[in-house]
Amino acid sequence: MQTLTNKRILLGITGGIAAYKSADLIRRLRDQGAEVQVIMTKAACEFITPLTMQALSGKPVHIELLDPVTEAGMGHIELARWSDVIVVAPATANFIARLSHGMADDLLSAICLVAAVPILIAPAMNQQMWLNAATQANIQNLAARGIILAGPASGMQACGETGPGRMLEPLELVAAVNGLFETRALDGKHVLVTAGPTQEAIDPVRFISNRSSGRMGYAIARAAQEAGAEVTLVSGPTAIPAPERVKYVPVKTAEQMREAVLAQAAKQDIFIAAAAVADYRCAEIAGEKIKKTAADLVLTLRKNPDILAEVAQLPRPPYTVGFAAETTAVKENALIKLRSKGLDMIAANRVGDGLGFESDENSLEVLWDGGTISLELTSKDKLARQLIDIVARKYNEKHPPQSY
Ligand SMILES: Cc1cc2nc3c(=O)[nH]c(=O)nc-3n(C[C@H](O)[C@H](O)[C@H](O)COP(=O)(O)O)c2cc1C
Repeated sequence: MQTLTNKRILLGITGGIAAYKSADLIRRLRDQGAEVQVIMTKAACEFITPLTMQALSGKPVHIELLDPVTEAGMGHIELARWSDVIVVAPATANFIARLSHGMADDLLSAICLVAAVPILIAPAMNQQMWLNAATQANIQNLAARGIILAGPASGMQACGETGPGRMLEPLELVAAVNGLFETRALDGKHVLVTAGPTQEAIDPVRFISNRSSGRMGYAIARAAQEAGAEVTLVSGPTAIPAPERVKYVPVKTAEQMREAVLAQAAKQDIFIAAAAVADYRCAEIAGEKIKKTAADLVLTLRKNPDILAEVAQLPRPPYTVGFAAETTAVKENALIKLRSKGLDMIAANRVGDGLGFESDENSLEVLWDGGTISLELTSKDKLARQLIDIVARKYNEKHPPQSY
């Protein structure tokens, strides 16, 4: 089971003897489905070669801050934006001191200052170095700033001494990284997500559909699952494998999607409709393949059910979140949809010209009655996690947790 699918991890390696274990860490993270980019300090390159790290991560290793080529595009800021999390393993006493003091005199420390993502450090050093008052003060300072500490463990050290300062083993670090993505914001909640396009048959071999890839809906299902929810994903046909630990219900047509959703909706706390349901289906589906004889072929189309509105109008509806894919007046059209369908929230995006459908990145305007948040262009995975955070917050405002 892969637990870090599509997660983007910046792995900082500093100059400690435990740097050799980072090679294994890269493999373990990638085994879990993560993408890994490595940044090494100059000292780290004395312990293990960038070539090894490049081969294991499958990506170039970043070392220089003042590199005219990569910095033409503000490489350090790009790298920070790319990542979902920064892991520094091993973290030397020297690096911990630099991070604690907000230094930005090399690539790794500069990125840590720029980054708006969680930073996890795995200290590794001689036990006297670890116990030194200076290191302990730096660690306390970092903890107060929200930097996450993984380890160190106690035991036999490379220098022959015994005590605290050993870097955690790669698998323990993978578990710690997994923990960062489990927000528990939707612990125990039931979340129903729809994704992908629908296919409306014309005849036994042809159908009407749209350009939805399903990526956004699948990312939302994963993000909800990571937030502790029990997730059901009702999906039209896509090329994406079903996410792990999610109840997966494949469908083809809008009517099948409606049936699957209505069968589940009453049990759900939250419904997020990210599918691009075809607005129309053929009034009649030809029993045989239609022959190419007539110069013009007229198909009569019939309006499909509005699944989102039906769920929102149930007697006891779940917290209902719609999606609006618009080519113009995104916010205005989304607001109309929010009100006319009686939704709790709507996430609107501009589609067309390479945006939205079939793309790995997207941006969203999230609107609810009395508020709005703009989520900037980023990967659909990151966007999904941001959206789930907002949904969880708004859901909890509407249904405050009971206190006994
Ligand atoms: C053989 C050797 C092993 C070292 N191992 C460690 C270590 O495990 N932890 C540590 O904090 N420093 C260790 N150091 C010291 C660091 O390499 C040194 O402080 C360096 O400046 C760290 O640079 P960096 O933090 O930019 O990577 C070691 C030095 C040597 C020569």
